[in-house]
Amino acid sequence: MRAFQMLYSRVHNLNLISTKYPQIHKLFKTFHSTNLRFINDSATADVSTIYDPVTGSLVTKRVPKSKHTAAVSDKDPYKLSSSDDADALKDDRSYGNAVKSNHGRSGFGVNKKKSKSKSTWVCSDCGYTDGQWWGYCRECKSAGTMKEFTEIDDGGKTSGFQVSEKIVRSWLPKGSGEAVPMRVTDVNRGINHLNWRFPLSGPFGNEVSRVLGGGLVPGSLVLIGGDPGVGKSTLMLQIAAIIAEGREIGKPAPVLYVSGEESVEQIGNRADRMEINTEELFLYSSTDIEDILGKAQVLSPRALIIDSIQTVHLMGVTGSAGGIYQVKECTAALLRFAKKTDIPVFLIGHVTKSGDIAGPRVLEHIVDAVLYMEGEQYSSHRLLRAFKNRFGSTDELGVFEMSPCGLKAVANPSEIFLSEEHSDSEVLAGLAIAVIMDGSRTFVIEIQALCAAGTSLSRQVNGVQAGRADMIISVLMKQAGLKLQSNAIFLNVVSGATLTETAGDLAVAAAICSSFLEFPIPNNVAFIGEVGLGGELRMVPKMEKRVSTVAKLGYKKCVVPILALKSLQGLDFGELEVLGCKNLKEVINTVFVQDA
Ligand code: TYD
Ligand code: MG
Repeated sequence: MRAFQMLYSRVHNLNLISTKYPQIHKLFKTFHSTNLRFINDSATADVSTIYDPVTGSLVTKRVPKSKHTAAVSDKDPYKLSSSDDADALKDDRSYGNAVKSNHGRSGFGVNKKKSKSKSTWVCSDCGYTDGQWWGYCRECKSAGTMKEFTEIDDGGKTSGFQVSEKIVRSWLPKGSGEAVPMRVTDVNRGINHLNWRFPLSGPFGNEVSRVLGGGLVPGSLVLIGGDPGVGKSTLMLQIAAIIAEGREIGKPAPVLYVSGEESVEQIGNRADRMEINTEELFLYSSTDIEDILGKAQVLSPRALIIDSIQTVHLMGVTGSAGGIYQVKECTAALLRFAKKTDIPVFLIGHVTKSGDIAGPRVLEHIVDAVLYMEGEQYSSHRLLRAFKNRFGSTDELGVFEMSPCGLKAVANPSEIFLSEEHSDSEVLAGLAIAVIMDGSRTFVIEIQALCAAGTSLSRQVNGVQAGRADMIISVLMKQAGLKLQSNAIFLNVVSGATLTETAGDLAVAAAICSSFLEFPIPNNVAFIGEVGLGGELRMVPKMEKRVSTVAKLGYKKCVVPILALKSLQGLDFGELEVLGCKNLKEVINTVFVQDA
């Protein structure tokens, strides 16, 4: 660093750099902007320390607070003398902007003349917007992606709040008077809690309702996130059709589906393929929020769907569609719209590379509910998970299957991770069934193990944490006396599922034992329990729910930690036999014995 600073101070005055060595020049530019940040950080303090590249040392300045900024911009130590260095000038300008925007934020009204046009720097990758140029995007850290946008400030800035106020006010005739604080009992008296939520009919509707916390709440703003292509538009089109039909409440009503990504014909084509033919579903293709809300006004729909929030924009707001300001302001406009009109609004949001919606997670705290749609690339199953829900639990999970004509609710979601039943699985060693929970849902998962003696020793695990697998193998060797040392061990979780819970430990151990002992486990036995370092079986949460799922699916035996027997006492599991075991040795002696 020191050497770099020295070098910088030496060559800093030579204009040769930019022309002869563009790479080095770029490096210096980054270095230069880092220095600028240093100044900016201390811009509100009385004492500021800056690095002076000419002397190569840190210089502390004491400046009276009110004059501080002016002093810094007058005696800018980084103002390169060469006026033909365009890049250097650019840096200077952005520095000027930074000072200016600092003023704006802290309420000082200096530099009024210059505030007519304002530059913002928007990352072309993630949409992050900054008031000044940095060598890299401070959000996604990619270099060279910050592009300059100049915004003419006409003094009357638009915000999502203003737009929705304007539209909603012209819409609602009643000047409902001033809002005053109300007693909670009075508020609740006016609401019929049974009919408060809008029910969604049919198996598909039930599955969506479940994730929403029991139905659609009037005036709610719901964000549906997910990877591109996972099926968000398909899901929303189906939900829109159900709301429009309104079977549960007996009368159809308009629903407006707005797409900024597809044309009306494209959506219509898709709807046709999915056999959606309700009269009340209206499609519209637009990206302008004011236009969309204006059209919604005419239609007065039962619900509004925006596909997607990254494609819509608000006139007068800085940045391009998908940028942080646009996304924020558009969401704010839609939030006000939903709250004022009691029309539920759904937003579709693409998840970016980093896993966030619209770069930073700006939307999550604005909206009422965030649902994520997940799916494996090669599996037709889709999970809809509540990540945040102001009107219900986030424990809920919807399970769907993508079919050629849209999403369908899965009839028996507990079994989606099971492989097809083989008639010969009775004789296949190395398979064991685990029971895991996801939210409030129970899933049975098949775990496979293969112990191959004599081959070059290796361990491959798929869907199980490598550390956890190592631990279970070591415990089997040490505490249960299995001679696994000379075996290559492979573990696999069927269907590409991942075992995240320790409740699957026992099934992993059982699968390894089964393969090692060449003793097939009958396919009607399930295993629930955590394995401790002493080989003991430990309790896991929600035992009752897990065991009852296993019973419902027709399993005959379920191996659980002995401590669980107490909590399961007195419960009726039909034909299921619950076997309590203290440790792995006991499991081996119970399961891996020939029936007399
Ligand atoms: P889509 O809803 O367009 O995804 P998103 O809006 O999240 O980007 O769904 C795209 C995928 O869904 C596409 O790859 C094909 C598949 N699909 C079906 O399998 N069946 C269908 O009926 C539909 C409409 C889509
Ligand atoms: Mg889409």
